[in-house]
Amino acid sequence: MARVFSGIQPSGKLTLGNYFGALSRFVKIQETDECMYCIVDQHAITVPQDPEALRRQTIEACAMYLACGIDPEKAIVFVQSHVSAHTELAWMLQCVARMGELGRMTQFKDKSGGGANADVVSVGLFTYPALMAADILLYQTERVPVGIDQKQHIELTRDLAERFNRDYGDTFTIPEPWIEEIGAKIMALDEPTKKMSKSSPNPNSYISLLDTPEEIKKKFARATTDSEREIRYDREAKPGISNLLEILSLCTGESIESIVNRYQGKGYGDLKREVADSVVELLTPIQAKFHRLLESGEAVDAFREGAKKAREIANRTLQKVRERMGF
Ligand code: ADP
Ligand code: NA
Repeated sequence: MARVFSGIQPSGKLTLGNYFGALSRFVKIQETDECMYCIVDQHAITVPQDPEALRRQTIEACAMYLACGIDPEKAIVFVQSHVSAHTELAWMLQCVARMGELGRMTQFKDKSGGGANADVVSVGLFTYPALMAADILLYQTERVPVGIDQKQHIELTRDLAERFNRDYGDTFTIPEPWIEEIGAKIMALDEPTKKMSKSSPNPNSYISLLDTPEEIKKKFARATTDSEREIRYDREAKPGISNLLEILSLCTGESIESIVNRYQGKGYGDLKREVADSVVELLTPIQAKFHRLLESGEAVDAFREGAKKAREIANRTLQKVRERMGF
């Protein structure tokens, strides 16, 4: 049994990428491991957020976690900003991190658009990986289930923990990324060489977990594929079709090989329709549960209770860090 930590930003509506890369895995892992599942609202403000929208999205994310099957009896669920130890440790880790290593983070490079935007990009966008490291290290986390996009940040977290342990004495458990081969990178529907993300300005590029059946069908019907007619799995040469195959396999549990065999001699349109139907089938009960939870306020209560438990664990680590650093 391992201590597990992971989180999702409430910077928009959670997507099918968040579901397969994170939420559906959280649900499985809570059965066997000691899990801390967080909604990382403080990460969201590295780019401008409307406060009312952020508040609403955070509440919706709480309901969506539980609607997807996360059980507050089996995992500790909480909102990052409810546990102030995160930002305090983040400051200390910013003083352990180096400008150079943060500058090498590909997510920062992508989101900041290079040096030309230095007067509009926040300092928080640059130092964000130190906050993420704090999230993980506060709980003496051993394994971090994430999609492939977070691998580099977990490696940085390991480097910071090792440096701290070396300079100040053994304090942090060194965490490992936990990435599955299938579902680790669901691609954008319009541009299948990029990952699907809730922060994309184009809503046709992602499936929100709250999309209606009509929206889901329309988005898959428009999904970018290629000019061939053959259905086979090849992420390099056929990213669009491979993404559809992966989504279908994740929805139904049928192997990609078996799907490909069934589709010999059939067209892209047939595959798109089956994928859309499977996603609708997956999301319909989740959406019903989400709306019930949102109305009852039950999810928010569970997250408040969770924060109490998280605070206790986090403060134990934080106290140790304070002493080690001379406070
Ligand atoms: P987003 O890019 O949608 O804002 P987050 O940064 O909040 O996502 O990531 C939350 C979790 O979801 C992380 O574990 C991340 O790796 C995972 N994730 C995000 N997008 C995808 C995707 N397209 N495919 C698989 N996992 C993803
Ligand atoms: Na992200």
